[in-house]
Amino acid sequence: MMQYKFPDGFWWGSAASGPQTEGRVPGDGKGENIFDYWYEKEPEKFFDHVGPNKASQVYTKYKEDVQLMKQTGHNTFRTSIQWSRLIPEGTGEVNPKAVEFYRDYFQELLDNGIEPFINLYHFDMPMSLQNEGGWLNRKTVEAYEKYAETCFELFGDQVKTWFTHNEPIVPVEAGYLYKLHYPEEANMKHAVQVGYHEALASALAVRAYHKSQNGKIGIILNLTPSYPRDIENPGDVKAAKIADLFFNRSFLDSAVKGEFPKELIELLKEADLLPETQEGDLQIIKDNTIDLLGINYYQPRRIKDKETPKAENGPMPEDYFDVYEMPGRKMNPYRGWEIYEKGIYDILINVRDNYGNIPCFISENGMGVENEGRFIQEDGMIHDDYRIEFVAEHLKFVHQAIQEGADCLGYHMWTCMDNWSWTNAYKNRYGFISVDLAEDGKRTIKKSGHWFKQLADTNTLTDKTE
Ligand code: BG6
Repeated sequence: MMQYKFPDGFWWGSAASGPQTEGRVPGDGKGENIFDYWYEKEPEKFFDHVGPNKASQVYTKYKEDVQLMKQTGHNTFRTSIQWSRLIPEGTGEVNPKAVEFYRDYFQELLDNGIEPFINLYHFDMPMSLQNEGGWLNRKTVEAYEKYAETCFELFGDQVKTWFTHNEPIVPVEAGYLYKLHYPEEANMKHAVQVGYHEALASALAVRAYHKSQNGKIGIILNLTPSYPRDIENPGDVKAAKIADLFFNRSFLDSAVKGEFPKELIELLKEADLLPETQEGDLQIIKDNTIDLLGINYYQPRRIKDKETPKAENGPMPEDYFDVYEMPGRKMNPYRGWEIYEKGIYDILINVRDNYGNIPCFISENGMGVENEGRFIQEDGMIHDDYRIEFVAEHLKFVHQAIQEGADCLGYHMWTCMDNWSWTNAYKNRYGFISVDLAEDGKRTIKKSGHWFKQLADTNTLTDKTE
């Protein structure tokens, strides 16, 4: 039996987001965001036609949910403020009901010994700003800075750990390259501008935070290590480096080192894709780097040299590489993502060696599975042994990286309780706690939730198979 002890004070918990959990009730004063709008217009784009209004009702059930977090071992929990709930038009009037809700919710967490980690932006652009171009428009950067300041003023006494964005590459990829989220564009010039504005907005929020508050502020990035098909093949290696520049280093370098990678700038310049900037921007990015890095890890990216013709609707990032399907890879068949546990170690070692060993934590990791009702046993509980194995196998590598000096402070699962997820709605369930939509969102702790409580209480992973 092997035991893996984690450092004292390790953060055990999970992550979620406002738009995926809160839901809407009549008279709550929330404004529309791009997902509310898109669902109204094209419900068929959402799995089973289930939209954001069917999120897991945290707005009304948060007291019960905080108790369930306690019962599943949380000492920390991350969610996000919905910009469109707090400031319904994106700029201007603050919604007093939102202030009351968030203050009560955060206080409930604090009163139960769970530290709230609060993120400002999780893909949920207010519709009134999207109508003016969203992240394409420089005015959104200004509006976001103001929104961030408002959040710090209203909740800074309760919240001491903040994040500027969750996975800022997702609005770039999903909204402006691969037509997965509204506004469903495939336009690399726009994608670069959106990413640039997000990076600048993040630095402005960091600046505003450090001016007035005394906690920590970071960013949450989905770092997807790029592995070349063959490390002996220079074409594959170069292609993997380019994918890494686009999808990881664009935000990682700008947030941690305060500058964009020179190779990325060169590449964008050659392709005539450089964004519009203003004097002083780069200095703002340079001077306002993060205190803490959140790392979301689900899957690796496997890359080979470009062998197929370039996309007709290009330019696209894939003009520089092809995706490689490694034979024999282990898959999560429901989500279609490869499971490669060592990737989490590789990321932590990269951060240790190339990013000044900045304090970091695993801010998301998890396994989405369809139709988990199959695994209910006589005790009425979902026996999700696959999830326990998934988390344990990743945690062993987190432990190893810590042993080797990585400054990793915690592990958060995606997610606490099954929640609504963008176009996938409730297709893939990720939670420690199930949510029964047919029974008004009834919550039941899964086997993994009880297992996680023991792990958190003992601060030790026990592997009975070894
Ligand atoms: C993460 C996002 O990347 O993936 C979450 O931060 C999302 O918002 C999660 O829910 C799972 O995605 P999906 O599409 O499988 O539900």
